[in-house]
Amino acid sequence: MNTFQSVEALFKPFEMGNLKLSNRILMAPMTRNFSPNGVPGEDVAAYYRRRAENGVGLILTEGTFINHPDVASEVPAWQEDVPHLYGEDALNGWSKVVEGVHEAGGKIFSQIWHMGARGNVNDYSKQEISELIEAFEQAATNAKKVGFDGIEIMAAHGFLIDQFFWKKTNTRNDEYGGDMVNRTRFASEVIAACRRAVGPEFPIVLRISQWKYDFYTAKLVETPEQLKHFLTPLVDAGVDIFHASIRRFWEPAFEGSELNLSGWIKKLTGKPTITVGSVGLDADFLDFFANGEQANGKANKIGALVKRLEREEFDLIAVGRALLADPDWVNKIRDGRIEELLPFTREALDTLH
Ligand SMILES: Cc1cc2nc3c(=O)[nH]c(=O)nc-3n(C[C@H](O)[C@H](O)[C@H](O)COP(=O)(O)O)c2cc1C
Repeated sequence: MNTFQSVEALFKPFEMGNLKLSNRILMAPMTRNFSPNGVPGEDVAAYYRRRAENGVGLILTEGTFINHPDVASEVPAWQEDVPHLYGEDALNGWSKVVEGVHEAGGKIFSQIWHMGARGNVNDYSKQEISELIEAFEQAATNAKKVGFDGIEIMAAHGFLIDQFFWKKTNTRNDEYGGDMVNRTRFASEVIAACRRAVGPEFPIVLRISQWKYDFYTAKLVETPEQLKHFLTPLVDAGVDIFHASIRRFWEPAFEGSELNLSGWIKKLTGKPTITVGSVGLDADFLDFFANGEQANGKANKIGALVKRLEREEFDLIAVGRALLADPDWVNKIRDGRIEELLPFTREALDTLH
């Protein structure tokens, strides 16, 4: 197989406004729990820098907590080492991360994250909703201040913003609940507030998904028409790039077309999109969380990925576990060193490779 030829499209630069990426390969956001008390240290900086040194076009950081009481109080043990995007120490830590990535010629966006309502989004008062929006806005301000090249707002996987999106978790009967447009209102206000905070040039990515963390078969929308209805207010609010989180990039979003979810979003909005899901691996990541299943490094689907990219179904490709286990993954793919691809194992999580 002439791998070098076949992967060329992955290595074309990408430009959007002031954002210039040297290739199409992104590191997917992955929580690593290596930031004691929310502060990323030198090991985290070195981990991200290694990806930039080894050719990753854009790094999306692991989810970083915004400063909101629902997040800061009663933090379960596993979240204690999740990084914050607030507080002097955490922000100093992040500015060192950013500096290292930039020195190595890379770009890095911070993923801003609220884990979700403790009870239910139905319980929030209007005042609490305003405070949540302010916390997102503050996180966006902080991201820009420490030098990130953009932000990704986490609105997928059943976390807070997604809880507002989904009719099963949002049965509010005010303007934040009810029909699809009302259920996007919270997200739209978050996006608009972040946009005000960072200005028109700073890229804002929105990560969305059909599936939820504890409900893999959930669907926000059933048809392309519903998807369009859902996306329109989010585009109007100021999203630059959509990141559609799916488990396997080759799976169609709707019957009757091969397009995956990012493909449909690009077609319906004209916005650049990021795809993701089992790139270079032979098992999806929920198999790993559910069964601890190892995934072996494979290049067999890379050809299909490149074809979709060449057809401009999407613009950018996020790679998760393969890049978590192997900082040199991009170079191996570029050079056709397929036999050197590493498997992703549970042990890979124990270290910042
Ligand atoms: C250890 C681990 C941590 C993750 N943490 C996050 C996260 O913080 N934010 C997020 O949006 N997705 C998170 N994800 C999902 C990944 O971004 C990605 O969508 C998923 O792993 C599928 O890509 P892959 O098949 O290339 O691994 C995580 C995945 C893994 C394996």
